[in-house]
Amino acid sequence: MKKRVLVASNRGPVSYQFGPDGMLTGRRGGGGLVAGVAEGLAATAPEAEVAWICAALSDADRAAAHTRATEEPGAVPVRMLDIPPDIFDRAYNNVANSILWFVHHMLFDTPNQPRFGQEFRRDWAAYQVYNEAFAAAMADEAVGSVPSAGVRVLIQDYHLSLAPRLLRDKLGGGHADLGIAHFSHTPWAPPDYYRMLPAEAGEAVLDGMLGADHVGFHADRWATAFLDCCAAILGARVSRDGDGYGSVGQVVHRGHVSEVAVHPLGVDAPALRARAEADDVRAHVTVLGQAAAGRKLIVRVDRTELSKNIVRGLDAYRELLATRPEWHGRVVHLAFAYPSRSTVPEYRAYTEQVRQVAAEITAEFGTPDWNPLVLEVKDDYPRSLAACTVADVLLVNPIRDGMNLVAQEGPVLSERGCALVLSREAGAAATLDGDALLVNPYDVSETAAALHQALAMPDAERRRRSDALAATAAAVTGRSCSTNCRVAFAHEYCCA
Ligand code: G6P
Repeated sequence: MKKRVLVASNRGPVSYQFGPDGMLTGRRGGGGLVAGVAEGLAATAPEAEVAWICAALSDADRAAAHTRATEEPGAVPVRMLDIPPDIFDRAYNNVANSILWFVHHMLFDTPNQPRFGQEFRRDWAAYQVYNEAFAAAMADEAVGSVPSAGVRVLIQDYHLSLAPRLLRDKLGGGHADLGIAHFSHTPWAPPDYYRMLPAEAGEAVLDGMLGADHVGFHADRWATAFLDCCAAILGARVSRDGDGYGSVGQVVHRGHVSEVAVHPLGVDAPALRARAEADDVRAHVTVLGQAAAGRKLIVRVDRTELSKNIVRGLDAYRELLATRPEWHGRVVHLAFAYPSRSTVPEYRAYTEQVRQVAAEITAEFGTPDWNPLVLEVKDDYPRSLAACTVADVLLVNPIRDGMNLVAQEGPVLSERGCALVLSREAGAAATLDGDALLVNPYDVSETAAALHQALAMPDAERRRRSDALAATAAAVTGRSCSTNCRVAFAHEYCCA
């Protein structure tokens, strides 16, 4: 008998499109979560029967949802849920992206937002229905058609914070060997910020996650903040132990013990380097090298996401050029931002702000022979990899970030060594702090000074730091996973 392993996430490992002939074609979905979990599952697959439950995100996905989509042989079977569009919109856009994401990244302009009125109550009811739909599908898959040697359920992120409790309630004591884990790939807010949520919602999120046996985060800070919220908001019994890695504490709530643990996410360095050798990436390397024409390159690669702090990053570059004229004509900033969540008004406004500030910098400093800034708002993965390959300086300055993979991928890809200017508020700062130049993401002047230090760094020092960063990034997950896969957060739990 095999173990049954279920993954649940809003965005799944495949997305569908209608071809010109109306036929559905699937392609692998994007994002670090999907890449990381898919890899862990592939390693698990021979010993377990796996399935992935996700939401249908488009009309083509909805059509596929009714045919129980089949994928390439060997790929994880996917069950897509056709959640009614209005429910999905309220749960995903209004609650998950506009409230929970904003709380955990502390993004609200608090004199004005948030305001929790009747509309929020309707959104919250939809979020409950959405979580119910996932719990029902997971319960169905957990029971399955043949007996199994135990069930492990890996529930991902803030979209599904109620699902662990709902699933536990559905399966009751009927399962002798049931393990439920919930993983947050985001930061977690401290209690003073978290408690701005209406009481019923704030308590339900914590209670929902404590339906899991194992609650995972990428950094000690986020796990500790979660423990703090459980104590302060639920009055749950919290004990703390561990050394900031692996288990950091337990929460006893409603007679059930949840272990809270830290599982950083690292980089599969050999696979990433092999991808960067492909022709599409090499072609971009050539073009970027010609465009740089011997100038130094400051690179950033992000989603156009408020928490990524792109505008302050541009402000810091502007301050560098204004206060250090010696860099005029000798540096180019490549700012690659791929579009994200454009249905949320704040994201559209932010993208416009990014374009505006970039245009101002070009107008202020550009000359006929020197374009100081290249901003591209489009999704071009090979070009992003190429930019990391040729970067002299990598700027990663999020306001808050669960982990941040770019900060780890950049040094792994770098050919001649890159200096990393990194926000101290990224989860990755906990492992990369020794060799990165850490900055307060709100301090534009400090960031400008760090950019100068990074540009002026002697080649040998930049190479040494970059190699050390790459080695750390490649080793992160190996520290806790016997098979050295990069998804210890999933693998160690489901293989245990
Ligand atoms: C980022 C976060 C993940 C989250 C994902 C959702 O990658 O790190 O925690 O699940 O965004 O993005 P989406 O594009 O699906 O809204």
